[in-house]
Amino acid sequence: MVWDFWGLRPESTHQVMFLMSDRGTPDGFRHMNGYGSHTFKMVNAEGTPIYCKFHWKPPKIKNLMADEAARLGGEDPDYAIRDLYNAIERGDYPTWNLFIQVMTFEQAEKWPMNPFDVTKVWPHGEFPLIPVGKMVLNKNPKNYFAEVEQAAFCPAHVVPGVEFSPDKMLQGRLFSYTDTHFHRLGTNYMQLPINCPYRARAHNTQRDGPACFDNQGEAPNYFPNSFNGHVECPRSAESKYTTTGDVTRHESINDDNFEQPRVFWQKVLNEDEKTRLVENIFNTMKDCKPHIQDRAIQNFGKVDPGFGNRLRKMIDTYISQKVSA
Ligand code: HEM
Repeated sequence: MVWDFWGLRPESTHQVMFLMSDRGTPDGFRHMNGYGSHTFKMVNAEGTPIYCKFHWKPPKIKNLMADEAARLGGEDPDYAIRDLYNAIERGDYPTWNLFIQVMTFEQAEKWPMNPFDVTKVWPHGEFPLIPVGKMVLNKNPKNYFAEVEQAAFCPAHVVPGVEFSPDKMLQGRLFSYTDTHFHRLGTNYMQLPINCPYRARAHNTQRDGPACFDNQGEAPNYFPNSFNGHVECPRSAESKYTTTGDVTRHESINDDNFEQPRVFWQKVLNEDEKTRLVENIFNTMKDCKPHIQDRAIQNFGKVDPGFGNRLRKMIDTYISQKVSA
């Protein structure tokens, strides 16, 4: 089914090629990049906004080969998390440098691609990576349940100065995670120490309910109120922005979904990496229904005819061997 969906949404081609390349099987968390993926907005003290993307980079990328990853998945599924835990225990603290790419609102207007489409990258040549910080993991959790399983990560949790872009997948995520947190952890999950804002208590006009241990100073559950409820924090208000133009449904299937995957195939991957990418795709697609294989191969052929032809050949050989067996 996954190949059915991917084939019908050619926007996925680029990401699927990353996933099926060596980068799809990182050798543990310490040796892989992390991305904010979406376009976010950063606003400075004067209220001037820019669009940005976040990139986390470790000192070294290390990948596993697909057969090794498959073996570990079966025999040692804790391989990656144990590696992370042990590195922290022995003081070899995992680090990632944080970089941002920035795009002004004017550049966003003129850029030929949709800067809010999560399936597109911003080319580093045009929007260089700017180093802005570093993350060091220097402490392991003592209670895995309280500090890991009860953690509620959500793309809507941002600090003042970081805001959202019109990326439609980001907009979908902004409310979806909270729904699941309510369901998974209860309505008062924000009161759990792991989810409390750092050095602050939750002030969300919410009272009572299961596992409530702080009624927020007996504040009423409505806003505004003339008792002791919370007050607005102007510093956290979203910055002003202008919108123009017509709003309509946008079908991203019709965008140029192959130019960036073509650069990945033609300029980034070497011959061995290409062969492994084709093999990894073949191995997951070889038993799909023919019309699903055809559609996916057609998409990869639009990236580069040679890429599509290699897959076609492998699938045809496999099918003819299956028929004659
Ligand atoms: C670029 C696209 C996306 C990425 C990278 C992403 C990433 C993730 C990750 C890493 C988690 C696990 C979080 C954790 O363990 O705490 C997660 C959970 C989740 N995602 Fe996404 N996601 C994406 C798109 C979406 C979309 C489009 C939706 C729905 C509209 C969605 C809804 C959820 C929900 C409801 C959870 C469970 C939250 C929880 O209970 O903690 N995600 N996602």
